[in-house]
Amino acid sequence: MTPQVSLDSYVEALDRAMRASRDKRASHGGVQELLREFATDPAVLKEILRRHLANPKNMNSRHYPVLSIPIARTASIELLANCWIPLPDSATNLSTKAIHHHGEMLLSTATAFGPGYEHWMFKTPQYDANHDIYDLELLERKVHAVGNVAFVDSRTAHVPFYPPSLTITIVLWTTSSPTTWRDHLKRRPALQRNSESLRELLKRVGLARALDLKIVEHFDFTPTSSGFRILKDRWEFPQGPNADYLASLFSVLQATKNEDLLSIIKTQATNPMVQDQALVMSLSSDLEAGRSIGARLSAGHTGAAHANFTAEMVEAALRSRKVPS
Ligand SMILES: [Fe+2]
Repeated sequence: MTPQVSLDSYVEALDRAMRASRDKRASHGGVQELLREFATDPAVLKEILRRHLANPKNMNSRHYPVLSIPIARTASIELLANCWIPLPDSATNLSTKAIHHHGEMLLSTATAFGPGYEHWMFKTPQYDANHDIYDLELLERKVHAVGNVAFVDSRTAHVPFYPPSLTITIVLWTTSSPTTWRDHLKRRPALQRNSESLRELLKRVGLARALDLKIVEHFDFTPTSSGFRILKDRWEFPQGPNADYLASLFSVLQATKNEDLLSIIKTQATNPMVQDQALVMSLSSDLEAGRSIGARLSAGHTGAAHANFTAEMVEAALRSRKVPS
């Protein structure tokens, strides 16, 4: 099987599994082995990268602390390759984002490459109105290493810490409810093309929830000395400049030994749609010559007190809720 056929058949198998049953949780359980196989097949990762590089528009992207490469989107599933960039000093005792849950969405994640990051999962947060604080209980704390598959249920709070070096996960998103005509409607090209403005319009007229358009509610938590506080507004890191995205993308190619994809990149370096052709050219030379290319977090990607905290801070917040007051 060619890598191209192989990638498509994995996507089709995952999509079919998610469409086959009304019980999406059971379906996630049923595809864990398939997702592990998919994530650890180097030919598949190469094909994901090849398709990403083949679109010149992707050379103009920017990234959050995690560089996300889309793989496929159907009415039932969304698949992404998430590239977790390490801190410059390789420190691991720092959360990559606030503790959060994804509302009614379901997520399975399989580590494809790298040492993995430490992943903490908690039970659904319980509100303590007397103290205006949330109680969290730790379910699991483990390294999400290559080949590991983790399922994050709806309303299950979790937080990934920084990995010691570049780590790539394959992520499968679905809703928790059965696929309906609404999901097919959401995948229509017009809705995709104008998704931002249309989402805003639908939100205003109250239709967004009916269409289950991944409307973000208040799902972020941060540890304090007396428990966990909810963040009133959903908060996201800013996107970094395109130069940091390109350096990070090329470092992914280098770390995963996909230098043979250079021929595709070279055609992009002269494509008028590519904004920074000079940088694409110079990074291509570095990749070709074997000069080390570092992935880059950007200004504003760390140092947010409510989103970047240590394991000890979470432990202290967990302990504080066990003391009766
Ligand atoms: Fe998450």
